[in-house]
Amino acid sequence: AGPCDIFSSGGTPCVAAHSTTRALYSSFTGALYQVQRGSDGAKTTISPLSAGGVANAATQDSFCSGTTCLITIIYDQSGRGNHLTQAPPGGFKGPEANGYDNLASATGAPVTLNGKKAYGVFVSPGTGYRNDATSGIATGDGSEGMYAVLDGTHYNDACCFDYGNAETNNLDTGDAHMEAIYYGTCKVWGSGSGSGPWVMADLENGLFSGSSAGLNTADPSISYRFITAAIKGKPSQWAIRGANAASGSLSTYYSGARPSGYNPMHEEGAIILGIGGDNSNGAQGTFYEGVMTSGYPSDATENAVQADIVAAKYATASLTSGPALTVGSSIKLQATTPGYTTRYLAHTGATVNTQIITSSSSTTLKQQASWKVRAGLGNSACFSFESTDTAGSYIRHYQFALQVAASDGSKQFKEDATFCPQAGLNGQGNSIRAWGYPTRYFRHYSNVGYAASNGGVQTFDATSSFNDDVSWLISTGFA
Ligand code: AHR
Ligand code: AHR
Ligand code: AHR
Repeated sequence: AGPCDIFSSGGTPCVAAHSTTRALYSSFTGALYQVQRGSDGAKTTISPLSAGGVANAATQDSFCSGTTCLITIIYDQSGRGNHLTQAPPGGFKGPEANGYDNLASATGAPVTLNGKKAYGVFVSPGTGYRNDATSGIATGDGSEGMYAVLDGTHYNDACCFDYGNAETNNLDTGDAHMEAIYYGTCKVWGSGSGSGPWVMADLENGLFSGSSAGLNTADPSISYRFITAAIKGKPSQWAIRGANAASGSLSTYYSGARPSGYNPMHEEGAIILGIGGDNSNGAQGTFYEGVMTSGYPSDATENAVQADIVAAKYATASLTSGPALTVGSSIKLQATTPGYTTRYLAHTGATVNTQIITSSSSTTLKQQASWKVRAGLGNSACFSFESTDTAGSYIRHYQFALQVAASDGSKQFKEDATFCPQAGLNGQGNSIRAWGYPTRYFRHYSNVGYAASNGGVQTFDATSSFNDDVSWLISTGFA
């Protein structure tokens, strides 16, 4: 039985079931999600390998080969049509045209389930999904439950990496108009013990870790690579539960009365992923699967679902592909765009650019175009690139321009300076993906370096020449 079969047996059926990694009903064979590729705008759906099984990632890999892909729809498996699509603007605008949020890269969160490859939804700041016209989701003071499997190492302190029930007009309509899972280190409204991240409930104008706003020490920091986060609510009662999604059982972090001002609830029944109720979109996180139920699930039902999640055996997969890089080596990166192949990725002060370099170039210029490969400052499964002439300074992106900057040791710097090489999109060398923004790659544009996406609002996101501009031949450095 899958998670939603278990919720059905418990009398609290799924009214939304979302996953890019697997079927959540044992008989489900339909579409899990839709991807759109950059090369020609074509779309395809990804289904399970077999009824109730893991997503057929090979379909995606072949469809997206040699180009980029975005997740355009996360289908609802419950049959109620509660699909998630690109979130529209609300109280806050998203970064895309007309204030829409970004869509997630289809390849930012590779994992395996029982040894079979699948992809999660990697939510960078600015990314969000939503459905404002749902069927069967709790409204008013209605009872509901929800869980999500998330990456416990991908979070930040911005508002709000959520999954759950929110406003249907994308605005903050007041306290108690939301009931969603929150995960991260935002301390604006509430927190738990330690330094986080925490599972909290976003109830609108507040992330709650217990009976009242502020610190509730029974809500622990939880950062397993895969976590299960669960929230449920019914009149005058709600709970937070959590677990390691790869082993063990759920613990109850809070179960009790509603906070003052949040009883009764005024749920509206929209569904959000990766954003707050008013489209606050500064947060980051990774979503693998999640459901919402009708009715308040029993602890026993949720415990059985946790056992099913553990049995799905989520595990990490490689974030890199293509020619391998060696930590400690010195490299140069040669442009592959026709007409620009005499150019190498270099820097002039803080600006990353491309420079024409020959054997007779100065030692200074050769050093400026040579980079020391380091273990990724923000994720050791990827890499960072340290300046050869300015030790302690690394290539980072800032407002999506590449810069060379001294590390300030912050989580933000480390993540902005972490990149995951993959096989070059034009078939040559490597394309260097930004870890925290996997839609974005090292690109030269007008001979300046950017972290660019294949289409987007900035000039440097132009689709023309994208594959060539983001593919680099990597070899031993000049210096
Ligand atoms: O409750 C926290 C956040 O506050 C909500 O997600 C958002 O709608 C509001 O800004
Ligand atoms: O480059 C995009 C973002 O711009 C970085 O993550 C952040 O440091 C800056 O605001
Ligand atoms: O960086 C040089 C060129 O500038 C790129 O190939 C092109 O996309 C842009 O016009």
